[in-house]
Amino acid sequence: MSWIVRESGFDPERIAHHGNKFMIGNGVLGYRGTLEEFGKSELTATIVAGLYDKVGDKWREPVNAPNGLATAVFWDGAPLSVLKAVDPADAGARGKAGEGDARGDASPELVAHEQALDLRRAVHRRRSVFRTADGAEVAITSERFCSAVRPELIVSRIAVESSREGEFTIVTGIDGDVWDINGPHLERIESGTDAAGEVLSLTAWTQELGIPVTVAEAAEVRGGGEHQLLREDLSVRRRIQMRCRAGEPVEFVKYVAVWTGQDGAPARDVRTASAQSAREARQLGYDRLLQEHADRWERKWETSDMTVEGDEEAQLALRYSMYQLHIIAPDRSERVSIPARGLSGQVYKGAVFWDTEMFMLPFFLHTAPEVARNLMMYRVHTLDGAKRKAAEYGYDGAFYAWESQETGDDACTLFNVNDVFTGRPMRTYFRDKQVHISADVAYGIWQYYAFTGDESLLLDGGAEVAWECAKFFYSYGYFNPRKQRYEILDVTGPDEYHERVNNNAFTNRMVKECLRVALDAMEILRSRNPERYEALLAESAVSPEQIRDMHDRLYVPQPDAKDGLIEQFDRYYTLEDVSLPDLKGRMLHPHEYLGGGNGPATTTQILKQADVVLMLHLFKGDYAPSVKQANWAYYEPRTEHGSSLSACIYALVAADTGSPDWGYPYFMRTATIDLTGESKQYVGDLYIGGTHPAANGGAWMAAIQGFAGLRYDGNQAELRPALPSAWQAIEFPVCLRGGSYRIRVSRGEVVIKASGENSTAMRFSVRDQELAVAPGQEVRVPYEAAGSLDGQLGSARPSGVKH
Ligand code: BGC
Repeated sequence: MSWIVRESGFDPERIAHHGNKFMIGNGVLGYRGTLEEFGKSELTATIVAGLYDKVGDKWREPVNAPNGLATAVFWDGAPLSVLKAVDPADAGARGKAGEGDARGDASPELVAHEQALDLRRAVHRRRSVFRTADGAEVAITSERFCSAVRPELIVSRIAVESSREGEFTIVTGIDGDVWDINGPHLERIESGTDAAGEVLSLTAWTQELGIPVTVAEAAEVRGGGEHQLLREDLSVRRRIQMRCRAGEPVEFVKYVAVWTGQDGAPARDVRTASAQSAREARQLGYDRLLQEHADRWERKWETSDMTVEGDEEAQLALRYSMYQLHIIAPDRSERVSIPARGLSGQVYKGAVFWDTEMFMLPFFLHTAPEVARNLMMYRVHTLDGAKRKAAEYGYDGAFYAWESQETGDDACTLFNVNDVFTGRPMRTYFRDKQVHISADVAYGIWQYYAFTGDESLLLDGGAEVAWECAKFFYSYGYFNPRKQRYEILDVTGPDEYHERVNNNAFTNRMVKECLRVALDAMEILRSRNPERYEALLAESAVSPEQIRDMHDRLYVPQPDAKDGLIEQFDRYYTLEDVSLPDLKGRMLHPHEYLGGGNGPATTTQILKQADVVLMLHLFKGDYAPSVKQANWAYYEPRTEHGSSLSACIYALVAADTGSPDWGYPYFMRTATIDLTGESKQYVGDLYIGGTHPAANGGAWMAAIQGFAGLRYDGNQAELRPALPSAWQAIEFPVCLRGGSYRIRVSRGEVVIKASGENSTAMRFSVRDQELAVAPGQEVRVPYEAAGSLDGQLGSARPSGVKH
């Protein structure tokens, strides 16, 4: 089964897309899938998780560290570059490196090019073959990885080889002239070398907080050659000249260490640590570093890799989706979470959204619960920011940031989109009104507890987070005396095209859940840490009884008795019922923002993304299949899927209602999003490209929770398989309550194998057949494949979703 993602040929139009597609990372560093000779114009980036900076009144965003892999190779003076660079030694006469083809016809011709990712070992590879003016064939091959064992380390091995004898010039080092969206974030760039002149380094400071960042590089060059140090304002590089024989490769390895003072360390220590780390890496050598890295990845896959029989395309896309999640998973720190665009750049301000709790958490809960805990502890550590936001708006408790960075203060601005026609900022209400974020956080905390049975998160601050979120909603909610019920007015639900609506069904249902979670979590706190419980109550203006009252009397829009439809928010049905193609036909600009004050969708029933249908997925036990079908059929044609968070939810609910083949195109669209690069790139004039971790998590959800039909409530694991026609079987590992299981779902049979190391038996139900699986036991359960109920979804037509 394939583990390789490959792309042949070079297309300058796909540089940005490939930068996302071929990313490597280790949860601390993300390195975009660019080529060695690329620079800022090609969006090269080394993103450090949790390091942000703000310049003046521009947007706060992640810092792009100096590029330690910057390398230009020349053959007999001619650049070997897909872009055609210039040797800096000649730059004065001919223009600057990276500024296009200053050499004219002398540039070697690119005759073959390939970029690949080995998902199994998390290694990026590149091979480019050039033909020089004198007919020599010269090849560059490189391999790189972000060490999964040493979080500060990126290692790259580059080999160059020619069919004729001649001279290579390699200019390699650290480039501080980096791509920035709202920068420059690094100032006072200082270059240096160690005493022996072997380790190069570049140190700079972030503008806002003055945090030092050092990139150090130790190189190992096989074959000697003449070395010269090149120090420029923004870079430090070495120029190596060596003669080589025909067919004999010249190889060099770069050991690049990226350190920062995020933990308060002064520049001196940061510099020393990075140089030491680069030097140590060189001592260990490439092969050993690669081996330990690959071994660590093998362990990641042991607990997460799945196989799909009968569908190679889905197989690779699923593996790739999991790869994308693994490379950005904070497995070492509970101070960072996963931004909406992962570590793929500065897009979306590097901010953490509800995407993490609702779309990524399930993958980690089932495969790496320790990462899930870190993700939720991040919310505990950012509680103060959430309290500040609530206070800023005059509310009680915790109002989590819509766009959260390292402190939990909201990076979302009041004007988050620019109008494409006037260039003027538009007032958006994501920050002020997407209050469901606080309920999503509480939901995530409870998911972790219910799923793992581990109370520590609740006792280490999780219960307090849930309580503060409940307090926020108590102060935000409105008691309607005439109807004798609580309502949640003036909110924006997941469908961002309709801002400031009343009683959004999803939001109200989530708030109800948040209130329940808060009460239950506080009970656990009361029994385990009564002092803390009492202290929290003592500083609260609201009592558990009041929260209970709001929970019991909170209005949640219900399915209509006749047609089963749930109205997305008060008076949604009064909006114009236009078809999606008609609405698109009204757009005056391809990037026009559909929502906001006067967007084309605002006055219509067209929604941006799954909203009611998401609620039906999250609370699937509460709704009859007919209700799910009716709402899927109603809302799907009206959904623009303008967010990458949407399609997977339609796949999930289609599978849940026995129509996996209806769900399949939505699943594929989700699972291939970063492979094809087909996603929205602009909202207004805002660039939103990058990787899509929520969709990556959504692909996993659709396969495991949708098609395999796995549900676990912390008590019993249930399997309700609904495999798409193309799939013969799906097999996957899961971790439930600390126990490991391998589950194989094929047509007509489920096989559950429990690890011999499990401590207790687990109760399963397979399409309502109950059984217990003891440690070490393998159980086969035949089930009646439900057959395809496709078509049950009525007259709905998937809205042109293709893959
Ligand atoms: C979606 C949000 C999402 C954000 C980040 C927006 O386009 O509407 O739901 O949280 O992107 O992925």
